[in-house]
Amino acid sequence: MAAMFSLLQVLLLVLALQHSAVATNCKERERHALLELKKGFKDPSKRLFSWEGQDNCCMWEGVQCDNKTGNVIGLDLRNTVSYYQEVGDLYIISSRLEGAGFKGTIPSCLGNLSSLQTLDLSNNGVYQYEPSHQWLSHLTSLQHLVVSGVTFSSNSSTSLLLALNKLPSLVEISLSDCMLESIPLFIPILNFSSLSILDLSENNINSSMPGWFFNLSILEYLDLTSNDFHGRVSHNLVNMTSLKSLNLGVNDFSEDAIPESIGSLCNLDTLDLSRWNISKRFAEFGGVFSGCLRNSLTHLHLSSASLKGIIPDWIGDIKNLQVLDLSNNFLYGSVPSSLARLSSLQEMILVSNELNGTVPEDIGKLSELVNLNLGENHLNVVLSETHFTKLEKLEILFLSYNPLVFNVSSHWNPPFILKTLRISSCSLGTQFPTWLQTQHELHALDMSDVGIADTAPIWFWNLTTKLFSLDLSHNQIEGSIPKTSSFRDSFSIDLSSNRFSGTLPEFGSITRILDLSNNTFSGHIPASIGERMPDMFYLSASMNKLSGRVPSSLCQMKGMGAVDLSKNQLSGELPDCWLNSSALQILDFSNNNVIGGIPESICDMPSLTSLHLSNNNLSGEFPVSLKKCSGLTALDLSHNSFTGSIPTWIGESLSSLDILSLKSNIFLDHIPPEISQLTSLQILDLSSNNLSGPLPRTLGNFSVMQVPQKIGKGLRNVQDYKESLLLILKGREDEYNIKLLSLLKVIDFSGNHLSGDIPEDLTSLYGLQALNLSGNYLEGEIPNKLGRLQQLETLDLSRNELTGSIPWSFSNLSFLNHLNVSYNHLTGRVPSGNQMNTFTDPSIYIGNDLCGFPLGVECAKDGERNREGPSEEEDDEEDDVMLWWYIGSTSGFAVGFWSVWGVLIFKKSWRYGWFYYTNIVCGMIYVAVVLSFARIKKKMMMLMIFRGREG
Ligand SMILES: *[C@@H]1O[C@H](CO)[C@@H](O)[C@H](O)[C@H]1NC(C)=O
Ligand SMILES: *[C@@H]1O[C@H](CO)[C@@H](O)[C@H](O)[C@H]1NC(C)=O
Ligand SMILES: *[C@@H]1O[C@H](CO)[C@@H](O)[C@H](O)[C@H]1NC(C)=O
Ligand SMILES: *[C@@H]1O[C@H](CO)[C@@H](O)[C@H](O)[C@H]1NC(C)=O
Ligand SMILES: *[C@@H]1O[C@H](CO)[C@@H](O)[C@H](O)[C@H]1NC(C)=O
Repeated sequence: MAAMFSLLQVLLLVLALQHSAVATNCKERERHALLELKKGFKDPSKRLFSWEGQDNCCMWEGVQCDNKTGNVIGLDLRNTVSYYQEVGDLYIISSRLEGAGFKGTIPSCLGNLSSLQTLDLSNNGVYQYEPSHQWLSHLTSLQHLVVSGVTFSSNSSTSLLLALNKLPSLVEISLSDCMLESIPLFIPILNFSSLSILDLSENNINSSMPGWFFNLSILEYLDLTSNDFHGRVSHNLVNMTSLKSLNLGVNDFSEDAIPESIGSLCNLDTLDLSRWNISKRFAEFGGVFSGCLRNSLTHLHLSSASLKGIIPDWIGDIKNLQVLDLSNNFLYGSVPSSLARLSSLQEMILVSNELNGTVPEDIGKLSELVNLNLGENHLNVVLSETHFTKLEKLEILFLSYNPLVFNVSSHWNPPFILKTLRISSCSLGTQFPTWLQTQHELHALDMSDVGIADTAPIWFWNLTTKLFSLDLSHNQIEGSIPKTSSFRDSFSIDLSSNRFSGTLPEFGSITRILDLSNNTFSGHIPASIGERMPDMFYLSASMNKLSGRVPSSLCQMKGMGAVDLSKNQLSGELPDCWLNSSALQILDFSNNNVIGGIPESICDMPSLTSLHLSNNNLSGEFPVSLKKCSGLTALDLSHNSFTGSIPTWIGESLSSLDILSLKSNIFLDHIPPEISQLTSLQILDLSSNNLSGPLPRTLGNFSVMQVPQKIGKGLRNVQDYKESLLLILKGREDEYNIKLLSLLKVIDFSGNHLSGDIPEDLTSLYGLQALNLSGNYLEGEIPNKLGRLQQLETLDLSRNELTGSIPWSFSNLSFLNHLNVSYNHLTGRVPSGNQMNTFTDPSIYIGNDLCGFPLGVECAKDGERNREGPSEEEDDEEDDVMLWWYIGSTSGFAVGFWSVWGVLIFKKSWRYGWFYYTNIVCGMIYVAVVLSFARIKKKMMMLMIFRGREG
């Protein structure tokens, strides 16, 4: 309630200030003080334009004067850092830094505004509070000090609070998100006699809870959320009898039980202990909630508190509860039927627990319920119409990721009009749900993977008018999308992995994410796509039947992060209009029929990291224009008709490459030794070309390949883009996706005319997992040390002119599962022991003069050699694939995210907000589904600092 109050207050204040154009003249010294203040603003925003000249300063924007005395009593210089739009459970947050912010020290003449009652400097950049500047102490009338989102110098916070303590009229102190690090533990003479609101949330205060808090006997609202407060919360809490809202979540308070004394705070309506690592059975806290708190509490937030056990029945006795947030704990069992007694309940947020019991039909009686969130549990139940009987106010229904069956009749007329429906991976039946037709207010719909195998009815496309986010992916939905369908407000549209057909419809101009992959859309990509959807960030139409040219308007989508049009039937030349203002990271036109060369302008795009053009009809020489692509990490030109030699500048100019595939082209001449300057390479595939000459002696320089660790660096990952590459690993060509690719370290030079011997240098690539040198003219002996490449899984030396014997060290290759040395001139005994004994197919040795197992050719006695090869120390490193995947995907995200889209500083309290779905879009917009409604208004005041594209 108090939180609402303060918001309302701010709102009223703004209104008041905007309409306070009163003809009173302001005091000269106050006007002077304001002008001094203005000087501190780096780049005075529009608002401060009115602050000049001899004008009556009471008329200046943001200035409120007392209409009798003419004294300045209110100063509102708030900056809107971000604004959010609430649609269902979706929050769109956009950066909108209006003013440029204050920097430096607040001029001490601000103290001349001695009648000031309200000072709001929120979100105004860096502010240095100098204790020596006594201006604060002159503001003796100050009641409301709101400086949230202003960065204070780290050493000023204690002195600031001590100075505030001297102001007798202070009612509200809002110092949220000010990067405060400390707080006075002891205040000799505590004043704060009027203080009713104390907001210190979103700071870095590393302290125990100071004792003087407990003497703030009229304090109603205390917010310490998201700090580093630690230790126990004193039982003196009972002294804070006026407290209505107590917010202690996201701190490091000791894991002890919730202080029992909370139970006797008879005015408390809001209790937020989210992210307390309580680690106890929830049922053990019955004592706390049996006091008079049981009657007063309306909002209970215990998200991410490591709560265990079942949801106790006594929750149903907190009879005025409106918001119950138990998300992200370890609660199992049923949704207790006692919850159905909470007749005021508006939000039941039980997402992400281990609930595995039943859901009582009685919850259908909770007629005030707005948000029912049972997602991400193990609820193996059938929900029927009865569960929703009286839920007339329901706006948000979240059931995703439960093995539940949503069993309603197809003619059901639900009592609610939803704004958000998330039912992903539940079982909805094969028919398209008819009852959805009544849900004409939908903003967010996630019906992915629900088993629908039906044609999308024509009325469905009428529902898309207000849809902000649509996910129908992974069903078997058929039909075409009517041309007239309106995705007017759609930000994110995912229709991937269905059976949609027909031509591409028009999507709305604000579309940021469009995934149409794995359908059967046909026809051309609309030529005007770039003009119509200029802010698109991710476009995938891969795996369809699209034909025609790649439209040049794509170049105009400056915020685009990834374009994936692979696996279509696109033809013609690629457009050559790419701009240096583009943020594009990934371009994938592989598996089409495009012709011509690589567009000159492609490397004008400074962020380009991944270029996939394989399997087309591209031709010409290795383009000189790629010299500029210094940020490129993956280049796949395989299966085209490129020719000429591999340029020597490749090593210097493309030094970031970790994937280079030039396979199946007509590249000529020798492999330039400079290629070994590509020290980040993990995959080097030059197979099936016309390369000749010796292998460079410097191949051992690929430093990433030198280390056996499988944890490679994070590879590209923009939205849902799935990078892939065709590789021949186990004797056949397969498509490897990014997760596997980043695990791999591969050299493939097969199918060329390479000659000379296998350089010893190669044997220092200890991380190498696949080495394919087959189908060349390599001669000499197989280096004995090749057996040191402990990670080798694939080794193909077949169809060369190699002589000598197979080194005994091969028996040390404990991961080797594909070996081929056929058609050389090898002699002697096939090594045996360990892994070598598993190769029972004689064809891998055929075409040589070998003997022993499995050839069935006995070796001459004198040719026999010591059966024990040189033993090498074993690297008992675990194949921790999962760990790698985890790190890989996370860092991949980070790379894509930080490198282009700038720096987004997350508030710590978002840690307990729930991110079901995140997208970074167009460098400016961030969308989160915050499944917890916990104090969402405050949470949205999120600081976004964007480096911008030039950063
Ligand atoms: C001053 O403003 C207050 C509140 O807006 C109003 O009630 C009062 O009548 C005003 N007084 C004069 C003298 O205008
Ligand atoms: C209230 O606080 C005072 C000291 O500030 C303490 O002596 C007293 O015991 C507290 N009251 C309770 C009931 O804890
Ligand atoms: C639910 O989970 C708990 C804890 O894992 C287990 O003891 C119980 O048997 C499960 N109940 C059902 C119905 O599966
Ligand atoms: C869809 O909306 C259009 C225009 O609003 C309307 O004319 C049409 O009848 C609607 N179609 C269906 C099937 O509801
Ligand atoms: C393509 O969609 C179908 C049907 O939903 C699905 O079974 C298949 O796995 C998808 N393929 C890929 C590569 O995603």
